[in-house]
Amino acid sequence: MCGIVGYIGNQESSPILMEGLERLSYRGYDSAGVAVIGSDGKINVRKAKGRLENLENLLKEKTVYGTVGIGHTRWATHGEPSDLNAHPHTDVKGDIAVVHNGIIENHVSLRKQLEMNGAQFVSQTDTEVVAHLLNQLYEGDMKAALLKAMTMLEGSYALGVICTREPDVVYCARNDSPLVIGFKDGEGFIASDIPALLSHTRDVIFLKDKEIGVLDRSGVKVFDIYGNEQHHEPYHVEWDLSSAEKGGYAHYMLKEIHEQPEAIKKTFEPRYSGTPGDYSWLPLTVEEVKNLRKISIVACGTAYHAGVAGRYAIEKLARIPVEAAIASEYRYRDPIIGENELFIAVSQSGETADTLAALREAKRRGAKVMAVCNVVGSTIAREVGDENTLYTYAGPEIAVASTKAYTTQVELMMLIAVALGQMKGELASEKAQELLDQMHQMPALVEKALGTEEQLQKFTSIASHKKHVFFVGRGLDYALSLEAALKLKEVSYIFSEAYAAGELKHGPIALLQEGRLVVATITQTALLDKTLSNLREIKARGAWVVAVCRESLKEKVTPEADELILIPDTDDLLMPLLAVIPLQMFAYCMAVARGCDVDKPRNLAKSVTVE
Ligand code: F6R
Repeated sequence: MCGIVGYIGNQESSPILMEGLERLSYRGYDSAGVAVIGSDGKINVRKAKGRLENLENLLKEKTVYGTVGIGHTRWATHGEPSDLNAHPHTDVKGDIAVVHNGIIENHVSLRKQLEMNGAQFVSQTDTEVVAHLLNQLYEGDMKAALLKAMTMLEGSYALGVICTREPDVVYCARNDSPLVIGFKDGEGFIASDIPALLSHTRDVIFLKDKEIGVLDRSGVKVFDIYGNEQHHEPYHVEWDLSSAEKGGYAHYMLKEIHEQPEAIKKTFEPRYSGTPGDYSWLPLTVEEVKNLRKISIVACGTAYHAGVAGRYAIEKLARIPVEAAIASEYRYRDPIIGENELFIAVSQSGETADTLAALREAKRRGAKVMAVCNVVGSTIAREVGDENTLYTYAGPEIAVASTKAYTTQVELMMLIAVALGQMKGELASEKAQELLDQMHQMPALVEKALGTEEQLQKFTSIASHKKHVFFVGRGLDYALSLEAALKLKEVSYIFSEAYAAGELKHGPIALLQEGRLVVATITQTALLDKTLSNLREIKARGAWVVAVCRESLKEKVTPEADELILIPDTDDLLMPLLAVIPLQMFAYCMAVARGCDVDKPRNLAKSVTVE
């Protein structure tokens, strides 16, 4: 979604702002702009609809000079993508410029009030109210105006503000939308995401909700909503920019698919001591586990699919009832949750608005809350506390389509299942040892599964004209099919749907006909015979069956499939970590074959911070 950058220092700000915006472009956007305080003390704004190149061309034609500025990439929510609706927005006289991520929920009433007091609006955005509001509240001190404005703004926001009357300061504020401040000698940076400032500094502060940051050339100060100064321990970012660059791959998505062995290793190792029984990384006592009545795993999109896989594993190993729920539905259904229940929010970004809202709801109702999250310092991680956050160490995921975050989420789900199983006394330590040993081998097996790339490239060159693809499977293979269908539709724009294989004959089989492409995932040994009979039903309707199948089942599956994609063997429970590799690669190759914008699919944003 939208991205924010800001700079104050001694260098020209616009190249720094543009570089930051480029690094945030993976989040998805449809217009962009910058505002810079010039040497004449005026704010110069440049905005352009469409790609950043348009803004760059505009800046070549109409240069802006100045060492203080803010910038923004906008993903339209209120008002169409256009030059006018692009940020930054200013007050009537152009003395104050504002960039904003999030949604101001009471913008309609604020707008009426501001108009009555003389404000003239030029855009359809909710953001513009902030510029006019600050102007009307300003009495010689922007910090005071911003603090007052925050008591009047409802909704979520990360704000960057500059003002001609205080030309050597950049202000920022946040509520429910991430904002990070970076600093080094004489320079300050703001950004909605770390990659935007990482080429300048690795020392950052994460602003908390209802706090403002004041940056000048002497440093950074943070204040709470009452104006009290707050001390934040700086966080030193360990990963470097190369982790967020393509590194020779054609696309981020391909690079991130290939990074999975490493991501899986990094996520597993801190939780593995060599022998089962040490689950000190899990923030639950044996007593709490024994008293658990239910676990709710709540998330969106791909993260939800990891939760569905988690449900199968936890129920099997720990015998605790688990529900996997979509966060946007969960929040509004008056969920039944309370004491002696565990709520696990799963989120790559840690910023997804629906997941955050569901988490707050569960917390309010007395459940124990935990998070599986990839971004240190993100809102969800902070909301549950670092001690209750199980980090996936996937590194920055830049492609909009999630790949390595998914595998590490699934891996953590499997680890949680093993831990709960043993703590509850349902899982024998021999079986736990066997599973942990196999997880230890997983990076090498995933590497092997990556070897399917060439076969998939050849196959997709003939399959890419297909208009529909069905994914089927049973048990964990169904959980995987859900993810495979999402991946394909989001990057290749091919209509794809996942069905539990046994459900086909209850309706969807009507869609099967000569030449229809069906991808079956077959990794669950115990369900093999049932799945094979479903494949026969599919073949009998003339469909073209591609089976993603474990090596040990090759002989039995060969007669029922037109194409086999073989993956290495491991325990049934861990097979999703391997089977997902060719399914991700399939989506990637189909998207490339169809000439799609793989890393930035249309209409999608990396971090969905609105409901
Ligand atoms: C799909 C995808 C999305 C996200 C979803 C949740 O490839 O990336 O479906 O999984 O928007 O995002 P997070 O995990 O950041 O909460």
